[in-house]
Amino acid sequence: MAFTTKLPPQNYIDGQWVDPASGEAIDMICPSDGHVIGKIARGGAKDIGLAVAAARRAFEGEWGRTTATERGRLLSRLGAAILAHQDELAEIEANDTGKPLRLARSDVVATARYFEYYGGAADKVHGDTIPFVDGYQVMIVREPRGVTGHIIPWNYPAQMFGRTLGAALATGNATVLKPAEEACMSIVRLTQLAAEVGFPPGVINLVTGYGDEAGAALSSHAGIDFLSFTGSPEVGVLIQKSAAENHVPCVLELGGKSPQLVFEDANVEKALPAIISAIIQNAGQTCSAGSRVLVQRSIYETFVAALATRMNAVRVGSHKADLDLGPVISKVQLNRVAGFLERAQRDGIPVIGEGRLDASAGEGGFFVKPTLLGPVPVSHELAREEVFGPVLVVIPFDDENDALRIANGTDYGLIAGVWTENGARQLRVAKKLRVGQVYVNGYGAGGGIELPFGGFKKSGHGREKGFEALREYTVAKTIVLNHG
Ligand code: NAI
Ligand code: MG
Repeated sequence: MAFTTKLPPQNYIDGQWVDPASGEAIDMICPSDGHVIGKIARGGAKDIGLAVAAARRAFEGEWGRTTATERGRLLSRLGAAILAHQDELAEIEANDTGKPLRLARSDVVATARYFEYYGGAADKVHGDTIPFVDGYQVMIVREPRGVTGHIIPWNYPAQMFGRTLGAALATGNATVLKPAEEACMSIVRLTQLAAEVGFPPGVINLVTGYGDEAGAALSSHAGIDFLSFTGSPEVGVLIQKSAAENHVPCVLELGGKSPQLVFEDANVEKALPAIISAIIQNAGQTCSAGSRVLVQRSIYETFVAALATRMNAVRVGSHKADLDLGPVISKVQLNRVAGFLERAQRDGIPVIGEGRLDASAGEGGFFVKPTLLGPVPVSHELAREEVFGPVLVVIPFDDENDALRIANGTDYGLIAGVWTENGARQLRVAKKLRVGQVYVNGYGAGGGIELPFGGFKKSGHGREKGFEALREYTVAKTIVLNHG
């Protein structure tokens, strides 16, 4: 029996599940076999208008007066509810995105962690006093932004729900969320859980639908005080334009072409599995995927041969088979990845390793073999553009300066990995990389709720996760008191 959900194709606005104004629903497809697992509401401008108004009422009403302690308790309760529904949420997530069940489970735990973390942090956000002229007292208080709009992608729906809402709710904002039309069934369930644990009406509003309908309506709405977006650089530009027109700030996370720098003194046995898992995780559809390996020329041949052996052992299949990776999200994404591989072949770039399709990777699924290519010229699109699929490119370098030049030489700057046993080089290189996170002798956060995250350049700006996100979702107010 194929998996289906009983979740309603409705929006959640002002504490009620309601039909969208369009009266229409969108089919949600399982990427492993193409079957319909459920439907979401096709929301649009009218629904967004109602959601923003509800959020405004909540912010100006009771929610705006809740104490940080109360908000923290609500978030913590949601964290506990998510853990209590771990199996159910993981099953929805795996079927909706095609990711292996094991990964879906760890995603759900990370989602809970966001609410645990920000639940505990809510009452630790405090201001400052500033020494000033005699007879004055100056206070800096941190206030919520107000009504925040959140537009998120399909690669980690549940985790993105936690990442984008955790800090916003902890600091007292009222929110409107527009998840991705490709996958967001877990978010519908998470919103139900948020209602059950007692978030008041209007504090979390969910409007599902297409990007150019519900998404564009949300980002351009004049009633929004702050925008949070994760997705493509192209849409990131549109979001930033809307934010500019409405004079509001935004945080943008737009992916990357994140490098792993492997020096000749690297611990190869440690590096190899980490480098493979950094590109096959979630079928390469991770903003922080390690998609470029830069290898010092003196160890290039042996290292790349060992990497190819490992890539050849990687297995792709249905989420149910719980292998190394599942399918990509959609036919569109499959074609996008295939296009990159075809152009690489046309340009004579050698394929040096390729994973295997498992028998569970059947008809109707969007499967792509994980592929290792190289050497790739630094000017080639494969060395510069985000593929968002399980495609890893290898590039040789001569010395430390050369490695840094190549690593920093794309338009992106999200994260990086550095593999060397030389302590001074570890820090020297880490400081010179223009990225938001650097991992030394390791890679990736695996959730990493506590760790500030965000990009430089085309990877976006602003920081999410950790205490930095609490700063993003608040604004400083200076109060000057003359008591002289
Ligand atoms: P996208 O940027 O179109 O979608 C992300 C979100 O933006 C979705 O919720 C979508 O509905 C919404 N959206 C789309 N058009 C919009 C508009 N005009 N106004 C407001 N919201 C809008 O990304 P897409 O098409 O799913 O993927 C294309 C490429 O983007 C991927 O191949 C990948 O390279 C990159 N990407 C990066 C992600 C990351 O984690 N940084 C996540 C998803 C995609
Ligand atoms: Mg798009």
